[in-house]
Amino acid sequence: MPRNADNEAHWQAIAQRYECEPGPINLENGYFGRMSRAVQAQYLEHISFINRSNAVHVRQRFEQGENIEIRRQLAGLIDVDPESVAFTRNATEALQSLIRNYNRLQPGDQVLISDLEYDTVKGAMRWLAATRGVEVIEVAHTHPASFDSLVQTYHDAFAQYPRLKLMALTHVTHRTGLVMPVAAIAKAARERAIDVILDGAHALGQIEFNLAELGIQFAGFNLHKWIGAPLTLGFLYIAPERLADIDPDMGEFHYPATDVRARTSYSTPNFPALMTLPLVFDEHRQLGGAAAKGARVNYLRNLWVNQVRPLPGIEVLTSDDPRLYCGITAFKFIGRDQQTMVDRLLKEHGLFTTTRTGAAFGTCIRVTPGLVTSAADINALVHAITQLNTV
Ligand SMILES: Cc1ncc(COP(=O)(O)O)c(C=O)c1O
Repeated sequence: MPRNADNEAHWQAIAQRYECEPGPINLENGYFGRMSRAVQAQYLEHISFINRSNAVHVRQRFEQGENIEIRRQLAGLIDVDPESVAFTRNATEALQSLIRNYNRLQPGDQVLISDLEYDTVKGAMRWLAATRGVEVIEVAHTHPASFDSLVQTYHDAFAQYPRLKLMALTHVTHRTGLVMPVAAIAKAARERAIDVILDGAHALGQIEFNLAELGIQFAGFNLHKWIGAPLTLGFLYIAPERLADIDPDMGEFHYPATDVRARTSYSTPNFPALMTLPLVFDEHRQLGGAAAKGARVNYLRNLWVNQVRPLPGIEVLTSDDPRLYCGITAFKFIGRDQQTMVDRLLKEHGLFTTTRTGAAFGTCIRVTPGLVTSAADINALVHAITQLNTV
């Protein structure tokens, strides 16, 4: 296990950097991440400053170079060319722009989604049917999933649907935390000349990856889950050699067509939030980056999964193959109404979790530890599941 992942004193000290409202134990850290106290303080200062200074700072400094430096640092975060990334307000905006503006589809082509894609991505891919005259192919992954079964699902789909040109792929599905074998799937897609748009919303900051090694040319992310930035920040990535395959967004003309920023809508962004990013990236690196954050949440995940998986009456839905899981994992009380059990976890045990729907295997309960979660919190979860399983 990577150093410190199970060191409660180390992580308690880190937890002190975050302000937490008293209340239930929050095991729903997948929705969005907390800012640290330092980031929050700086964000509030920036809000106040930009409100005082108004356009004077933004026009004279932010737009004259600060924005370029922040973008350079963003590119450094994922080790790509600064010319390949553009800020958006969130992952959805980034992914929908890629889907909407992908210009290589002809009527009669096919596009692919699976049951594990995020709903806004599914919606955008389905929208292509009406606007581009393509056929939308929807596959469901076999359950329980294995590395091979996940890759095989795509091999089968590629063989069955020869007119496939584009597919969405979710690096970490928000439903169960399953981590897709992205490199293997992207390789298979490349062999069939199928382009992949990667949804990296839950991967960034929690999983170490390199887009070139994954073989990914188009991707969307947010910075408000596992990186620790203020809400309203995301970005898209387009490999420079593929820029011409994504049109400027709805005739966007403020930047030349050769500039990736033309793939986002030209609008007034959250300047104070963007201005916190150098501190956010610094803190992320200081904590040990995705390697350290991921190791800690994986440790907490294993702590409950190892105790709960053997219980009759419980099904843990996410694989234990280390290539396929991260800190997020989902389970079911077999034969029970999952929303009722989520309500009981909260009312009877003070544990805040959430149900997720939309996967082929039905409704599940998602558990997401965060950077402030302790081993004691996880033990409380194990105790609660064990108790509720009997009554
Ligand atoms: C897998 C996945 N994709 C995309 C999104 C959308 O992210 P955003 O809310 O930043 O648009 C989420 C958000 O939860 C997600 O979990």
